[in-house]
Amino acid sequence: MSIMALQFPLAAVLLLLSAARTTKTTAAAQALPGCSDKCGDLTIPYPFGMNKDCYLREEFFINCSNTAQPPTAYLMTSNLTVTNISLDDGELRILNMGAEDCYNAQGNVTSNFPYELSLPLPYTISYTKNKFYTVGCDSLSIFQGFRGEDELEMGCMSMCNRLDIVDQYSCSGAGCCQTNIPRGLKNVTVLLDSLDNHAGIWEFNPCGYAFIAEQGQFNFSAASLKKQNNYQLPSVLNWAIGNETDSCDEAHKKTNFACKANSMCVNGSVGYLCRCLPGYEGNPYHPDRWLPRASNLCQNGQCLNTFPPGNYSCSCHKGYKNDGMNDKSCIEDDSKRHSKIVLLLIVSLGMYN
Ligand SMILES: *[C@@H]1O[C@H](CO)[C@@H](O)[C@H](O)[C@H]1NC(C)=O
Ligand SMILES: *[C@@H]1O[C@H](CO)[C@@H](O)[C@H](O)[C@H]1NC(C)=O
Ligand SMILES: *[C@@H]1O[C@H](CO)[C@@H](O)[C@H](O)[C@H]1NC(C)=O
Ligand SMILES: *[C@@H]1O[C@H](CO)[C@@H](O)[C@H](O)[C@H]1NC(C)=O
Ligand SMILES: *[C@@H]1O[C@H](CO)[C@@H](O)[C@H](O)[C@H]1NC(C)=O
Ligand SMILES: *[C@@H]1O[C@H](CO)[C@@H](O)[C@H](O)[C@H]1NC(C)=O
Ligand SMILES: *[C@@H]1O[C@H](CO)[C@@H](O)[C@H](O)[C@H]1NC(C)=O
Ligand SMILES: *[C@@H]1O[C@H](CO)[C@@H](O)[C@H](O)[C@H]1NC(C)=O
Ligand SMILES: *[C@@H]1O[C@H](CO)[C@@H](O)[C@H](O)[C@H]1NC(C)=O
Repeated sequence: MSIMALQFPLAAVLLLLSAARTTKTTAAAQALPGCSDKCGDLTIPYPFGMNKDCYLREEFFINCSNTAQPPTAYLMTSNLTVTNISLDDGELRILNMGAEDCYNAQGNVTSNFPYELSLPLPYTISYTKNKFYTVGCDSLSIFQGFRGEDELEMGCMSMCNRLDIVDQYSCSGAGCCQTNIPRGLKNVTVLLDSLDNHAGIWEFNPCGYAFIAEQGQFNFSAASLKKQNNYQLPSVLNWAIGNETDSCDEAHKKTNFACKANSMCVNGSVGYLCRCLPGYEGNPYHPDRWLPRASNLCQNGQCLNTFPPGNYSCSCHKGYKNDGMNDKSCIEDDSKRHSKIVLLLIVSLGMYN
């Protein structure tokens, strides 16, 4: 038998063994099987979905419209564009138009419409991530919101008689006014008006605007006052999985409890959310397979999740077997490996002799 002949089968055996050792790394599934998880560049993770049987409930329906390129994702049947969905924080980013109040040189109204945001539960307007802005040199806004059936009302007024008094970048009354947003609002209506129809200031400020925007996404400057384009800025909504009153304690007892294996429940703004247990990543709402963050939990095997959360077992790759004590590790299956090598040697020796 030549040296060459020996080298070949050995190389083949080594290759085979190393292939068996390579652990599979599959990205955790974001959508249910048979469902797409992409609308253009936007990832749509379950419980959200774009088709019937792909979302958990009607409230998590995303309308992916292909009429424009790239496709646009709308929240449910509304015309609110969704630009980001976060499972970890129970947040969702939308684009919405502001209220507008414009005049001509004679002081007649040329356009006036309110800002409206009306959402079914489990959506609320994030009070930690957003601010309410009013922009204009003769602008008065009235903000009405509902938390459940409770009505909350507030307002903001911004004035200026010349542009050079406007403090660049500071939204503090001169040309711009900002306030915090009350906690837990499900709908908001903003009405915008002026005291003097922009008389005397029309040249540099014909319009007022009022809108909710994510903090940091609107930088006020004197240029904002000359602008005659309504704002379409991102704002952040909170969402939760259960009903308004479902805290984790109650949700746990229900048959439709949404937190799957290796996840835990956290109270949300309303209802509850699910999060991955430490050491795990993926989609905690997805009924399917879960991948441990450290894929070395199951070396030479695939991690399967069993109850209770955090418990797991390993399904071993070819050539490995469970160690017999528990199912939490995989050891080399000597009997199979030996027979494989012997078989290979026999085959290759047969070929080369
Ligand atoms: C989805 O959005 C498109 C474009 O705005 C609209 O024509 C269509 O009616 C919407 N579909 C649903 C189910 O709301
Ligand atoms: C969305 O629809 C409402 C009324 O249905 C309308 O007032 C508003 O201008 C629309 N917004 C956008 C961005 O198209
Ligand atoms: C979505 O929001 C998260 C958290 O704010 C951010 O880390 C991520 O980059 C955003 N994704 C996109 C596509 O904007
Ligand atoms: C502006 O309003 C005045 C009355 O206040 C009216 O006489 C005039 O016709 C209006 N002009 C326009 C362009 O609407
Ligand atoms: C906001 O919610 C309240 C209470 O449910 C309701 O009466 C009101 O009509 C809603 N407003 C809008 C603009 O949807
Ligand atoms: C606003 O200004 C800050 C600081 O200058 C900058 O980091 C940020 O990108 C600006 N945001 C927008 C939307 O222009
Ligand atoms: C919310 O509560 C109502 C009334 O108790 C119930 O009919 C509905 O199924 C609940 N929805 C969810 C998602 O739990
Ligand atoms: C969730 O909220 C309920 C009711 O408000 C409270 O009793 C419970 O301790 C909270 N659970 C967690 C994990 O914060
Ligand atoms: C964890 O899973 C293993 C394998 O499925 C099972 O034998 C064991 O009883 C589980 N442990 C607990 C605490 O349930």
